Amino acid sequence: MSKEVKRYLVTAALPYANGPVHIGHLAGCYLPADIYVRFLKEKGKDVVFICGSDEHGVPITIKAKKEGITPQQVVDKYDGIMKNAFKEFGIDFSYYGRTSSKTHHDTAQEFFKTLYDKGVFKEEITQQYFDVDANQFLADRYITGTCPRCGNPNAYGDQCEKCGTALSPTDLINPKSALSGNVPVLKDTKNWFLPMGEIQQTEQFQQYIKRFENWKSNIKGQCNSWLNEGLQNRAMTRDLDWGVPVPIEGADGKVLYVWFDAPIGYISATKEFFEKGNSDSVEGPWIKWWQDDETALVHFIGKDNIVFHAIIFPMMLMTHGEYILPSNVPANEFLNLEGDKISTSRNWAVWLHEYLIDFPERQDELRYVLTSIAPETKDSEFTWKDYQTRVNSELVSIFGNFVNRVLVLCDKYYGGIVPSVSGNYTDEKLVAASSLCSDQVQKNLQEMNENLEVIKLRDALSNFINVARAGNKFLADTEPWKLIKTDEESVKKILFDALQICAKLAIASKPFLPHTAGKLTSMLNLNNLNWNQLNEETILNFGHQLGKAEILYKQVEDEEINKQLIRLDEIKKANSQQAPITQSLQELKPHIHYEDFEKLDLRVGKVVEAEKVPKADKLLKLTVDLGFEKRTILSGIAEYYQPEELLGKLVTVVANLAPRKIRGIESQGMLLMAGNDFGKLFSVGPDQDIEPGSVVK
Ligand code: 2FM
Ligand code: ZN
Repeated sequence: MSKEVKRYLVTAALPYANGPVHIGHLAGCYLPADIYVRFLKEKGKDVVFICGSDEHGVPITIKAKKEGITPQQVVDKYDGIMKNAFKEFGIDFSYYGRTSSKTHHDTAQEFFKTLYDKGVFKEEITQQYFDVDANQFLADRYITGTCPRCGNPNAYGDQCEKCGTALSPTDLINPKSALSGNVPVLKDTKNWFLPMGEIQQTEQFQQYIKRFENWKSNIKGQCNSWLNEGLQNRAMTRDLDWGVPVPIEGADGKVLYVWFDAPIGYISATKEFFEKGNSDSVEGPWIKWWQDDETALVHFIGKDNIVFHAIIFPMMLMTHGEYILPSNVPANEFLNLEGDKISTSRNWAVWLHEYLIDFPERQDELRYVLTSIAPETKDSEFTWKDYQTRVNSELVSIFGNFVNRVLVLCDKYYGGIVPSVSGNYTDEKLVAASSLCSDQVQKNLQEMNENLEVIKLRDALSNFINVARAGNKFLADTEPWKLIKTDEESVKKILFDALQICAKLAIASKPFLPHTAGKLTSMLNLNNLNWNQLNEETILNFGHQLGKAEILYKQVEDEEINKQLIRLDEIKKANSQQAPITQSLQELKPHIHYEDFEKLDLRVGKVVEAEKVPKADKLLKLTVDLGFEKRTILSGIAEYYQPEELLGKLVTVVANLAPRKIRGIESQGMLLMAGNDFGKLFSVGPDQDIEPGSVVK
């Protein structure tokens, strides 16, 4: 960057709106971005933090096909679920956009048109794979095969997620249609290519890649190896019907490549933020944040997104001509779960919305653990035992315990008022303990700052907990609860000093543990704590009335962890069972007459409310709208559906089943469910929107 940095535009990869968010997403990208942003704001920097749902591309249409709903219904459902999970975990985006918005479509089309008018693209008729049965071209994830670079047999048509290489479908060895499993045929089609090979040779690109030198080695290494091999031209349009239409003549039935439009989502969300977001604290307009070289553009991503953010998007920005280029692309590696790769399709994940149900009010505990094991330089591992150990032996026993002891003692000895102190310690042992503690506190706070600055968040968090550790040791060394009997003056000073450490912890916890920071700040009855006070000797003055001491963290019990391990074990078992070659047909029941069937009153219902039934692991209590009335229905599907997944779902209700009481609640009907050989249940409903109350016949 040539000029001084005046503002930071921080982005976190736009997640595909095709499923809920899991711990791998949080640890890989959103949490580090949030910690960095909170830190920058504490330092008084102007920051805009952008994210949003990536609502185009094959991941969305594949999901729609699987769920039997439209792509629009898929993105509407998951946009809400993801946004809510981020909010719960304190991921404090300035703006969370959607790539289905009009602003985004306009911005992406305008961007494409600019490049097109400048003659950047190469228009080429090439042979692309086509699935004859499905009657469609097989772009991106619609085609799989073996990666020519690393041999991964499950590489996608646009990328191998194992080695990160950007691919074209025709690069794949043994290509196969993801729609039908067929071997595809080749068919001519016209597309517009970004001439990456040529751009790579330009002086501007060569200048740009010098920045890699200051970036994390995982990015530098991957990018340099691709650059050494020489970049291939890449189509920026696709023969698909879901996405941003290509805004030029002769491109009917084509949309922008999702990796062309998605990063432009950062720009359109910034526009929306300044047009309709809560942007009072920073100065607009949006253009300054994207086109003024006093802005630092920082993209937080997972390692599978490196090529798109470090090479392709910068090439787009560069050829457009008016935009700044990224200053840093901090990419994390992957987080594994209990020894295995996190996988959405195998349900091998800890889903954030499920964590919140099992561990309510424990968002900061997960933030803490995921930051301490963040896959910053290599893949790392989440295990529930380790989660329990870190929470119990660090947050509970060190941080929580220190703060609690200080506040409880101050309450007991001084009625919760900061005591007055004069002079220094006289006892040698106390002098030594105090000096050791204050050295440790200052050293760790300084290192924490330096580590945050360079986005070494694991190290920064470890500095943070070391501050609490030093405070805890200070109490253990000085034992004010014993000393109170013989040396009241020294106890005042010990607790006065310990209170200053509590206040510093309240400040320093702000980027990492925002919920805790708020709680601790009110326990200390402080407000407007600011980062600069970390360098001040006294934050809490004599006579200040402290607030009420509360427990910061609760122990994680063995049963809580065992429950999670059992759940994962069940998933593992279900995954390891091979799908039966022929479905084991249940024996058919004897014939019935049509009159018997007619006795059933089956109706379409819409689930409008859903909640778990306390102390009943299997039951959900639903309110189902039948058009003419709403019914309360208890259904034994809690193991298969989260309540929020059911909201708005159309289901089939046996509407004339005699009501019966279950767990004291009257259930006024029953939902029809389909059960497969693995004991899974799926709700049965109409495949189109139809009015609730419609008769099923
Ligand atoms: O990998 C993903 O989940 C992509 N949706 C990330 C897109 S990041 C950006 F370019 F929008
Ligand atoms: Zn590969």
